[in-house]
Amino acid sequence: MANEKTITLEINGRSETATVPPHRTLLQALRDIGHVEVKSGCEKGDCGACAVLVDGEAVDSCLTLAWTVEGRAITTITGLGGPDEPHPLQTAFADTGAAQCGYCTPGMILAAKSLLERNPDPTEEDIRIALSGNLCRCTGYTKVFEAVEQAAAELRGAGEKS
Ligand code: FES
Ligand code: FES
Repeated sequence: MANEKTITLEINGRSETATVPPHRTLLQALRDIGHVEVKSGCEKGDCGACAVLVDGEAVDSCLTLAWTVEGRAITTITGLGGPDEPHPLQTAFADTGAAQCGYCTPGMILAAKSLLERNPDPTEEDIRIALSGNLCRCTGYTKVFEAVEQAAAELRGAGEKS
């Protein structure tokens, strides 16, 4: 396509290229190059399923144009950790049963990660506000808040030890 250009995206610490037109969203660009761990929900900024971190801040990738984040650090859920080396948030979501279908879970965990980076000891209200853009239609949010509290406590403990 005439107005496409090849951009370099820094994804989970690795440089990857995508050839996209100016209107391609980051969500579409990521999924097109294989990052299907980034979930597509409403595609209009309502559900938070598509959240990724851009320079540590959670953003809805469906509302972000791929061209605008060239050179910035993008983190998807797989960049946080995986089955062999899960992040404490991933472990806590599994331990508490906070993931039901799991579709909303990557976005929730990344929103929580962004919160804990700026506030390691959040109140439940802080957690509710931070995750207010992430919708789960399977169940309630009690276990999600428990999971974030559990991970925050563990990360604070780890910080004290190091
Ligand atoms: S898919 Fe982006 S907010 Fe719903
Ligand atoms: S676990 Fe199913 S939508 Fe959240």
